[in-house]
Amino acid sequence: MGRFWVILIVVIVLALLVGGGVGGHHVSKQNDFCIACHAYEKVSWDHGDHAFTNCLDCHTKGLVTDKVQGARKVYLMFTGQNNPHNDPPSQLHPQKTSDNCAACHMTSEVEANDPAFFAQHTGMMENFDTCQSCHDYSGHDPELQALRFEAPRFAQED
Ligand code: HEC
Ligand code: HEC
Ligand code: HEC
Ligand code: HEC
Repeated sequence: MGRFWVILIVVIVLALLVGGGVGGHHVSKQNDFCIACHAYEKVSWDHGDHAFTNCLDCHTKGLVTDKVQGARKVYLMFTGQNNPHNDPPSQLHPQKTSDNCAACHMTSEVEANDPAFFAQHTGMMENFDTCQSCHDYSGHDPELQALRFEAPRFAQED
């Protein structure tokens, strides 16, 4: 069996174990998993307006996709193809993130309790694709988050 496959299998098993695929889902542990690779995001989240919310509340793309993506990310990192502290992500998923915002903020409960907000936002969403169009980086302090690309804290060896 080639080295690639050994690494891939180890990585998938690790991702499933560490990612909370085995045993009960424990919310705080899941955040710890994310934070292991996303230190800047941890800080900007701590100082943002959603520190009470878990990473995956905004970033989930469904359980299966999360697991596949998680395994891929562990693989990319362990094979040195991506440094999550400094490299910009190759893709973001703004529409999924926005759907996750709506899952908390645009519920029938909100509609009942705050009809003005709900009506205003339903109207606005007819002209905008995502919540982020107006609420830039909700969940992260945008200034702290910007430091990530401006000032890598540790010099990289090639
Ligand atoms: C092993 C390291 C590692 C762990 C653990 C990890 N990530 Fe990532 N993450 C990465 C890498 C590497 C990328 C860039 C992937 C790419 O460019 O394709 C990334 C990209 C992302 C992105 C941008 C792309 C997207 O999917 O929208 C988000 C958001 C993200 N991670 C959130 C999380 C969350 C939430 C968790 C915890 C459930 C987590 N990450 C756990 C390494 C990791
Ligand atoms: C309230 C929602 C929310 C929470 C909670 C949240 N994020 Fe995000 N995150 C966002 C938004 C919005 C973006 C901007 C990109 C986008 O629109 O998808 C983003 C971007 C990111 C990116 C891409 C970085 C970049 O600069 O492009 C990563 C990685 C990430 N978040 C990881 C995390 C991690 C890890 C946690 C938990 C410690 C977390 N996020 C908590 C909403 C959230
Ligand atoms: C897990 C549920 C949850 C998710 C997911 C979530 N939020 Fe929130 N958000 C809250 C709660 C709770 C509050 C505080 C009470 C309130 O203002 O509704 C809040 C507050 C806010 C506020 C007011 C913040 C302030 O301090 O003025 C904005 C704006 C907001 N959220 C936008 C977003 C956006 C945009 C997203 C997606 C990127 C998002 N939220 C994702 C639960 C959530
Ligand atoms: C066209 C711009 C726009 C879009 C798109 C938008 N919002 Fe807003 N949002 C606003 C404005 C303007 C306010 C009120 C300004 C303020 O007090 O910060 C606001 C306020 C909020 C608040 C705070 C309400 C309060 O009582 O303090 C929340 C929560 C919120 N938006 C969530 C969302 C979510 C979730 C989405 C996506 C479904 C979204 N917004 C899309 C412009 C927008």
